[in-house]
Amino acid sequence: MAETSSRYTSVAITLHWLIALAILGMIFGGWYMSDLPDGAPGQYFLYQMHKSIGITILLLTVARILWRVMNPPPPLPDDMNGLEKTASHLVHVGFYALMIAMPLTGWLYSSVSIRLDVPTVLFRVISWPDIPFVSGLKTEAGSGAVNFVHSKLAWATLGLLALHVAGALKHEFSAEEGVLKRMLPGLFGKTAKPALPARGALVAFGSAVGLLVLIAGTPPLLSAVTNGTTATTTAAFTPNWTIDYGASSIRFSGIHDGNPYSGSFNDWQAAIDFNSDDPEQGRAEISVNTGSAAANQRLYTDSLKSAEWFNIAEFPLATVEVSNMRAGPTGYIATARLTLKDLSVDAPFEFELEFDGDQVVMTGQTQFQRTPLDLGQDSDPGADWVAEDVQVDVVVEASRTN
Ligand code: HEM
Repeated sequence: MAETSSRYTSVAITLHWLIALAILGMIFGGWYMSDLPDGAPGQYFLYQMHKSIGITILLLTVARILWRVMNPPPPLPDDMNGLEKTASHLVHVGFYALMIAMPLTGWLYSSVSIRLDVPTVLFRVISWPDIPFVSGLKTEAGSGAVNFVHSKLAWATLGLLALHVAGALKHEFSAEEGVLKRMLPGLFGKTAKPALPARGALVAFGSAVGLLVLIAGTPPLLSAVTNGTTATTTAAFTPNWTIDYGASSIRFSGIHDGNPYSGSFNDWQAAIDFNSDDPEQGRAEISVNTGSAAANQRLYTDSLKSAEWFNIAEFPLATVEVSNMRAGPTGYIATARLTLKDLSVDAPFEFELEFDGDQVVMTGQTQFQRTPLDLGQDSDPGADWVAEDVQVDVVVEASRTN
């Protein structure tokens, strides 16, 4: 075998094997995860990892294509005939098309899927938006068709892979000048250095990072500009307590995928009228900025904002009216009427008060159910992943004003 053929650049070789391994893992991992029954332990994590690695493949493919333009690969060996060269070229073009189409159809599917209407958070850190302006495909038929294409492209990838591997092996072992050693130097024989020094790393990888920043950064920027919601109460009574919001909290918690989740609302306002010598006349009104919910995982925070949960775009505020206060088994019991997304439910609210002169600390809790509030009813109506009950814990520190 000749030793003169020059190899690919180290960057091209690294990208080639990295992406190849990732795609193979994605295909077999994709089959495995989509065969799991809904609610199987760890399924959520697998889907998020699949989406994270898939988007990474898309961005690396952008870098790879730019790199290839700036660092043309070594020419195919002269002993390959015209037909073989054309076939090899077509397989490569097909691969580049698939490396773009596989992640794009996956991204489109996760943007329009009804069954899997769950936001994407890359590697648990970066919120990745759905593709905009494709809601027309968000039907059983539309998302089914996209899923079909995504699934069949996996088979097309495996078909091309078979041709690619057969071609590479044939031209390694039967031709005068092997080709595999150019992509696997050392293992299949020595090669000459790339003909030209490598260039354009900043452009190739900078563009991929730029694309990531642009796509992930635009939605938070837009919502910062357009979201002017703040919680405000419009109580018809005069409150007699002033709340220390820094020391007070409204927290929520429950179970997701077998693990506890929790979070709190960072923007809420309450008006309270309460006298301990006449608790039956007590009342409170609370306004909660639904978009201010922050959970212990970014995925949960992003999910809560979406249309099937709090739908913050249409319903930026929720309200709670607390009334019917009376002595309870420990402390007091009242009725909390929660209104969210134009739906109202009543739940018993138990609370205790600890007075210190004109200061009070109130600790209370209640439970709501997801179904009557139409929370997560598209993707998880059977509570396979997210438990039906949501616990709400409230702490209010306040000082008496009159
Ligand atoms: C090179 C990249 C990718 C490859 C090779 C790949 C491959 C696969 C495969 C083989 C399946 C199983 C299909 C079946 O059931 O027959 C699958 C499912 C899926 N993929 Fe991808 N994928 C890629 C990128 C992505 C991306 C970027 C996303 C989203 C951002 C995504 C989202 C999904 C989803 C949500 C499913 C589940 C379908 C279901 O369970 O109904 N994929 N993928």
